[in-house]
Amino acid sequence: MWSSNVKTGTELSISAIPASQLAKEFGTPAFIMDESDFRLRTAAWNNALGNAFGSNAGTVYYAAKAFICVEVARWIKDIGIGIDVCTGGELAVALKAGIDPAAIEVHGNNKSVAEIQKAVSVGVGTIVIDSLFEIERVAAAATKLGVVQKVLLRLTPGIEAHTHESIATAHEDVKFGFSIASGAAWKAIEEVRTHSSLELRGFHAHIGSQILEAESFEISAERLVALLATYRDKFSVELPELDLGGGYGIAYLPGEVDLDPASTMKALAEVVNAQCTAHKLSIPRISIEPGRAIVGPTMFTLYEVGTIKDVTLENGSTRRYVSVDGGMSDNLRLALYDAEYTAVLANRTSTASKISSRIVGKHCETGDIVIREIDLENDIIPGDLLATPATGAYGRSMATNYNHVPRPPVIAVKDGKARVILRRETEADLLGLDI
Ligand code: LLP
Repeated sequence: MWSSNVKTGTELSISAIPASQLAKEFGTPAFIMDESDFRLRTAAWNNALGNAFGSNAGTVYYAAKAFICVEVARWIKDIGIGIDVCTGGELAVALKAGIDPAAIEVHGNNKSVAEIQKAVSVGVGTIVIDSLFEIERVAAAATKLGVVQKVLLRLTPGIEAHTHESIATAHEDVKFGFSIASGAAWKAIEEVRTHSSLELRGFHAHIGSQILEAESFEISAERLVALLATYRDKFSVELPELDLGGGYGIAYLPGEVDLDPASTMKALAEVVNAQCTAHKLSIPRISIEPGRAIVGPTMFTLYEVGTIKDVTLENGSTRRYVSVDGGMSDNLRLALYDAEYTAVLANRTSTASKISSRIVGKHCETGDIVIREIDLENDIIPGDLLATPATGAYGRSMATNYNHVPRPPVIAVKDGKARVILRRETEADLLGLDI
């Protein structure tokens, strides 16, 4: 839930910097990011893949959609893993940071022709193809540039992963990929094979996000290996790669635990190895695309309390509304997925008794809720700070300017030093769009 350098219990601090000092220096709301923790988590997934698959380990592609900015992309480059981008914008960030295009994998169910041309022209390592139209578009772009583009086909293995409906992606009724069950995958395979400007390297599947039971990943791997075997039987040649996507779940609430990289990868490798043996197939290179599991726990959001209101409910009980200076513009996840978070009083300790409270934002909307129900100290007053852990993934990256609210900065903390890596938006930034 909290990153490794955060201490709670007294005044909350990160790498020995107190929350009140961060608020004073950088303002609120702000995303506070633990740089060392990010590096540790990235290395943990990279080592886990390497240890589990040995010489068959492919690449850990960090899923930029969870959170990216140029500085974080530089860390990715430093650490030496790959990056998964799904728009021209994310590609631009990766290139600006100097990531080797060969380490970039391009996703998206509706990549524009311009995005495809850009990706092929800079020499991205892999394009993950998502539709029949795209096969023609990528082939045309590669032919025009006189190159052969490596591609994977995104497949839907028909898995009902246990997560919120909006973030499950591998059942049949989705916009992503080609279904294995319906035969769409074969049509795509045959189509790709007609193009000499495309090199089909293998298959990709991403079954959803915030998945906590490792079994779904294993079933997906099993189905993809089975398809590799059918491919070999049909065309007498083996495809060398599988990308098993991201989706590894993390802890948001006390008592929950992150999926452990080492044991998750070990279990996956056992399934892949057993399936390959059963199908007399060489073990393919296995890649993964964790986003949330790397960046999610590395950030917390620091808010300042502005107002407090006690409301009498129909049943006579009281609900305390604690309003903070952000809300659904910096954390859309409750509104979209009913996501649950926790929070702590961050600028001081209190021994006051707790009262059932709802933390809400500053937006003109009833659904602007950060935490629906939480017991908070009953002596919280305006000016106090609240910190919400595990907001690193899909927090700042899905932030909006609703109500013309400038988006918060990201402050990286390492070895007792804090610095802005993504600055706070200003009203001038917003007004700059008006003609
Ligand atoms: N690979 C592909 C192809 C993806 O579509 C995604 C996420 C990932 C990797 C990374 O998944 P992760 O490891 O972060 O779970 N906004 C939602 C999550 C949407 C995920 C979209 N795709 C949320 O806040 O829960």
